[in-house]
Amino acid sequence: ANGGAKAGKTRNIIEKMEESGKNCVIFYGSQTGTAEDYASRLAKEGKSRFGLETMVVDLEEYDYDNLDAFPEDKVAMFVLATYGEGEPTDNAVDFYEFITGDDPSFSNSNDPALGNLTYVAFGLGNNTYEHYNSMVRNVDKALTKLGAHRVGEAGEGDDGAGTMEEDFLAWKDPMWAALAEKMGLEEREAVYEPIFGIVERENLTKDSPEVYLGEPNKMHLEGSARGPFNAHNPYIAPIAESRELFNVKDRNCLHMEVDISGSNLSYQTGDHIAIWPTNPGQEVDEMLNILDLKDKQNTVISVKALEPTAKVPFPTPTTYDAIIRYHLEICAPVSRQFLGTLAAFAPDESIKAEMVKLGSDKDYFHDKISKNHYNISRTLSVVSEGKKWGSIPFSAFIEGLTKLQPRYYSISSSSLVQPKKISVTAVVENQLIPGRSDPFKGVATNYLLALKQKQNGDANPEAFGLTYELMGPRNKYDGIHVPVHVRHSNFKLPSDPSKPIILIGPGTGVAPMRGFIQERAKQAQSGENVGKTILFFGCRKRSEDFLYESEWEEYKKVLGDKFELVTAFSREGAKKVYVQHRLKERAKEINELLQQKAYIYVCGDAANMAREVNTVLGQIIAEQRGVSESKGEEVIKNMRAANQYQEDVWS
Ligand code: FAD
Ligand code: 2AM
Repeated sequence: ANGGAKAGKTRNIIEKMEESGKNCVIFYGSQTGTAEDYASRLAKEGKSRFGLETMVVDLEEYDYDNLDAFPEDKVAMFVLATYGEGEPTDNAVDFYEFITGDDPSFSNSNDPALGNLTYVAFGLGNNTYEHYNSMVRNVDKALTKLGAHRVGEAGEGDDGAGTMEEDFLAWKDPMWAALAEKMGLEEREAVYEPIFGIVERENLTKDSPEVYLGEPNKMHLEGSARGPFNAHNPYIAPIAESRELFNVKDRNCLHMEVDISGSNLSYQTGDHIAIWPTNPGQEVDEMLNILDLKDKQNTVISVKALEPTAKVPFPTPTTYDAIIRYHLEICAPVSRQFLGTLAAFAPDESIKAEMVKLGSDKDYFHDKISKNHYNISRTLSVVSEGKKWGSIPFSAFIEGLTKLQPRYYSISSSSLVQPKKISVTAVVENQLIPGRSDPFKGVATNYLLALKQKQNGDANPEAFGLTYELMGPRNKYDGIHVPVHVRHSNFKLPSDPSKPIILIGPGTGVAPMRGFIQERAKQAQSGENVGKTILFFGCRKRSEDFLYESEWEEYKKVLGDKFELVTAFSREGAKKVYVQHRLKERAKEINELLQQKAYIYVCGDAANMAREVNTVLGQIIAEQRGVSESKGEEVIKNMRAANQYQEDVWS
C-alpha cells in the first residue's frame, strides 16, 4: 500500500495521530466526494460538540498493518462508499484488500489483532445495485472478526432511494450518544470554528502570474502541463467535433469527439471518460451576490488550513470567483445539516429561526428546499428574501460544499478504431420541476452544450440562458477545450470475437454499445471471425431521439447477418414498449444464444431498466429451459460471477 504518498510524509497513522495530538481519525473511501464530505462533517461535529481532536484521512495515504497498535482510548471512524458492482472506491482498494484478506498480517502479534480498536462505520451505497453497501458491510464484518469493537450501528445511506443525507443524519445522532458514553465525552454548546483562514493578498491582482484562476495545479498554471493525466491532473483536451443527436426542439443529446492525441492518455473500448465541468456564470454571480462578495469577486486571496491535518481543496493564491466557478459544487442539493450551521450567521433573528427550523425539520426542509431542487445560493436567497449573508465566514462554504467533481461518461467509440479520439454521448440535463418557474439544469451537460454552441457558432448560443467561461481560465488555448481523464472499467468485450454478444442499451445506454459494434465491424473488416451481435435499443420516437440511426446501417453493411438491431420506441403507440419487452418476444433466440455462451451487456439507467432487464432474462431462461424462476435467476447470478453478464449502469 503505497498509493499517494508524498516524499517525506509519514504513512504511519498512529505516529501521525500522536504527533498532532488527535484522538479521532476519520478514514474515508470516496469516489464522487460525498463520503469525503461526510467524513469532514463528522470531524467538525466531533470537535465542536464533544471536543474530540479529529482528523480526516484519505485511506490511500496511510498504511494499515499497524492498526493493531491503535490506542485503546482513541476512535477510528470509517466512512466508506461502495462503487459500481460492489467494489471499493479507487482510494480504498488497498485497504479493502488488506482488511478483508484471509489473514491480514499486522506488525504486532496481538490476539485478537484489533482487540484495542474502537470504531464506528457508515456506508454510502445505492440499493438499485446488486451489492448494496457491500463495502461497509464487508469491512465491518472483517473488523469485528479481527476483534475490533464497533460503537453504535454500522450505518447505511441509500442513494438509490434518494435518502442518503437523511440516512446519514439519522445514523449519526445515536452514534454520537453511544460514543460519548463509551469515551466519557461531555457534550458542549457547539461553536463554529473555521478550518481555513482567508488572507487577502493586496500586492497581487488576478493577472499576476502566480495567481490560480482555475488551473488545477502548478504545472497547469505554468503552462507546462504533462502526464500522467489522472484524477489529480486532468488533460485539457481539444474538442475535435461536437454535434446534436436529437431531432426535437426542447431536448438535447450531444455527440462529442475529444482529441487526446496531444497527451499520453489511452483508453480501452468500454472505459469511462471523466469530464471536469465549470459552473455557469449566473450561478457564480448569484453566489457572490448572496455572500456579499460581488465587490471582491477578483480580490486575490490565500487560503490556509488552520488545522495541521486539514487540506485546502484547491491551489492558492486564487480569487473568490475562481474558487466558486471551478472548485466548488455550488449547484448541488443542499445539506440540511449545513443550513443548521449557517443559521448562526443569518442576517436577522427571524431568518435565523427559519434556518434552524429547516435544519431540524426534515419534512419542512423537503417541502421548502429539496423538492424544488434549490441549490445553496437559491436557498439562502429564498430564506432571507434576498437579504445578503455578508457575515458567513467564507471558510464555512469551503467546508460545507463538496469539491467540484468530474462527471463520468461511457466512452462511445472503439479504441481499435480511433485510439486517440474519444467519443462521448451525453444527454443534456434540463428538467421541469413542478412548482418552480425555471427549469433545473445539470452542471456538466449544460457546460458541454455551451461548448458545442460556441464551437459551431450556433445561432443562439445563449438560448438556454446560461453562460460559461468557455475558453478556460486564462484563455490560453486555441479553440474549444475540456479537462478530462480516463477511468478504466471492467465493461469489456469477450477476448474471443467469435463469441455472440447481446447488447441492451436504451437511451444514452447505447454509448458503450456503439463502441463495441464499431470494434466488431473493424475486426470483421480485418478478416476476423465475428460472432452474432444483437443490439436492443430503446427511445421515445424514431423521429426524435433515435441515436445514431444512420450509423447502424453502415455497420450492417460490414457485419451483414452478424449484426441485428432491435428497437423499442416507447412513445409511438398507445402502449409503452421497452427493450425488455423486445427481449421477451425473442425468448427462444436469446436462450439459444446463451446456450452458445453469449455475453450479455446492459448499460444505462440503474434504477429501473437494468433491474427489469435482469428479471426478464431470468424469466426467459426459466421458461425456455422449463426450470423454476429462482433457478433462472441463479443462472443469471452465475453469469454475472463469470463476467458473462456485465453492467455499466448509473442513476
Ligand atoms: P448534475 O448537475 O450533476 O445533476 C445530476 C442530478 O443530480 C440531477 O438530475 C438531479 O437529480 C441531482 N441534482 C443536482 N443538483 C440538484 C439540486 N440542487 N437539487 C436536487 N437535485 C439535484 N450520462 C450520459 O449522458 N451518457 C453517458 O454515457 C453516461 N455514462 C455514465 C457512466 C457512469 C459510470 C456514470 C456514473 C454516469 C454516467 N452518465 C452518463 C451520467 C453523467 O455522469 C452525469 O451524471 C450526467 O450527465 C448529469 O451530469 P450534470 O453535471 O449535467 O448534472
Ligand atoms: P419512456 O421515457 O417513454 O418511458 C430511453 O430513455 C428509453 O428508455 C425511453 O424510450 C424510455 O421510455 C425508456 N424507459 C423508461 N423506463 C424504462 C424501464 N424501466 N425499462 C426500460 N426502458 C425504459
